[in-house]
Amino acid sequence: MPSYQPYRQFSAYHHLTPVIAHRGASGIAPENTAAAIKLAAEQGVQWAEVDVTISADGIAVIHHDSDLARCSNGHGLVILKRLAELKELDCGNWFSPHFRGERMMTLTELLALANQFEMALNLEVKPIIGRETETVWAIYQALQRVPFEHPLILSSFSIHALQACRAHLPDISRGLNVEAIPQRWQDRIEEADCQGLHFSQAFFDANQVQQIKQSGIHLLSYTVNDLVRAEQLWQAGINSVFTDFPARLLESHFQLQSDRGHH
Ligand code: G3P
Ligand code: MG
Repeated sequence: MPSYQPYRQFSAYHHLTPVIAHRGASGIAPENTAAAIKLAAEQGVQWAEVDVTISADGIAVIHHDSDLARCSNGHGLVILKRLAELKELDCGNWFSPHFRGERMMTLTELLALANQFEMALNLEVKPIIGRETETVWAIYQALQRVPFEHPLILSSFSIHALQACRAHLPDISRGLNVEAIPQRWQDRIEEADCQGLHFSQAFFDANQVQQIKQSGIHLLSYTVNDLVRAEQLWQAGINSVFTDFPARLLESHFQLQSDRGHH
């Protein structure tokens, strides 16, 4: 696999904004669909996170679970269905009949949509275990077909996937996803050669966060739907939070900034 060269993306973390729409505006639209991305854009969000996995024929698609049951009217594993079969599924009605007819997006469709909305992306690489390289290869192919014009971060819970990103998409920023921040976080970040650490807000620890920040690693936290928690994280220096309700958090961040301005 040749390395991807069309543009240099390594500083995407420097373009982060405080709020990232988690799976799109997934509190008000079916997660990971075009509707969720469009609503996030309409709410003024500049960054969206989505989950990327592959079909049986090796096409990168936007879906969180390895199984189809929760977020579509299909059953079985995504990776065992060809794209043509996945495209027949309804990915909106499970959330609300209002979204009936939403289809599973391919990554190329998402990239075109995000280009149109001028939205930056965090693609969370969610390979089925054992298909890490194939999943990264599918992302590489999508980026060849639709060059992305905005900041881009690739992240994953999978060290194998991140190492494949480093090998094949070396100029794109990488983030390590974890639930709890590991005690030996330096080793883990080095192993995957990442610039960011994306952790669960449930494991926030102010001292640990301060240490990590001093090392120059960017810190992002998921999934933050509570305003008080978001403010606590921003004040501790977390660069960005992933939320299902971006409008709510954008408002809260704006309020926090203007309160600071007045005192
Ligand atoms: O990328 C942040 C967050 O999305 C990780 O967890 O399960 O929501 O994909 P999950
Ligand atoms: Mg995710």
